[in-house]
Amino acid sequence: MTDTTIEARDLAEAALAGLTAQPKGLSPKWFYDAHGSDLFERITQLPEYYPARTERAILETRLDEIAAEVPDGAVLVELGSGASVKTRLLLDGLPQLAGYVPIDISEAFLLQTASRLRADYPDLAITPVVADFMAPITLPDFGGRPVVGFFPGSTLGNLDRRGAMELLARLRAWPDHAALILGLDLVKPVEVLEAAYDDAQGVTAAFNLNLLTRLNREAGADFDLSAFRHKAVWNDEAQRVEMHLESLRAQRVRIAGETINFTAGETIHTENSHKFSPETLSMMAARAGWGIAGILTDPDELFAVAMLK
Ligand SMILES: C[S@@+](CC[C@H](N)C(=O)[O-])C[C@H]1O[C@@H](n2cnc3c(N)ncnc32)[C@H](O)[C@@H]1O
Repeated sequence: MTDTTIEARDLAEAALAGLTAQPKGLSPKWFYDAHGSDLFERITQLPEYYPARTERAILETRLDEIAAEVPDGAVLVELGSGASVKTRLLLDGLPQLAGYVPIDISEAFLLQTASRLRADYPDLAITPVVADFMAPITLPDFGGRPVVGFFPGSTLGNLDRRGAMELLARLRAWPDHAALILGLDLVKPVEVLEAAYDDAQGVTAAFNLNLLTRLNREAGADFDLSAFRHKAVWNDEAQRVEMHLESLRAQRVRIAGETINFTAGETIHTENSHKFSPETLSMMAARAGWGIAGILTDPDELFAVAMLK
């Protein structure tokens, strides 16, 4: 069942490499320990976090168009499945599905989610895979069943353009792939974007700072959480919201036996969330070798679900 188990050693190595680089940065995949996954679920319920409810509304209202691209007996394979909340709309509304494969890096959270899904969908073959989707993934053998990818939550937007294109091309090369349902966030006014990543209740701040708690616990670090603050900024040139952890003073932090120096105001760049236009999305999909069956958006054009085949 387990493809790649994420070891503490990998985290310490990645942290040392990222924190000794200039500028300092870490991959957002490290946000997702069990507490990080819980915090992300809370983010999806915040009033400022329009992407989750908007994508859900598109999946609900356009289910017929989605169903038309899902062959009989298909297996739904989801990347970055998290709590599989929106997926339940597809599992409920696509009776032609024979199986569901949630893939996520957050192992304990994934296995707990899978056991809940097994109880709720006893007739569906549910096969969780713990893996890092940044590396090639070996899928279970589905005996030639058509594979439909599901990549919601604008998680592809966390990658830079090259990484996103390479991943789209890898999904295109999966054996027996029939379609890909890809959810991506669209460009919109900066106030809306920044609020979505810096909510009034401070849940996104807690999510970002939890990375330091994780480094303290799993990578032998001694971050003082009160000496860092969460920051979310729109980078217009790169068309993305960036999350950072800003050092509030000059300080030294120990991690995996090394000392890392921070100047006051220096940041650790922890996440990019790229935003797209429907045109860019179509162009990227086409360049990665996918045909476009449709780009489904909400009436306010906040979010897009692309049906690729
Ligand atoms: C933005 S959340 C989206 C969750 C869910 N799909 C949704 O739409 O609400 C990203 C999810 O992808 C997972 N994830 C992030 N980076 C990953 C990676 N490199 N490999 C596998 N899973 C990853 C996280 O654990 C998390 O569940």
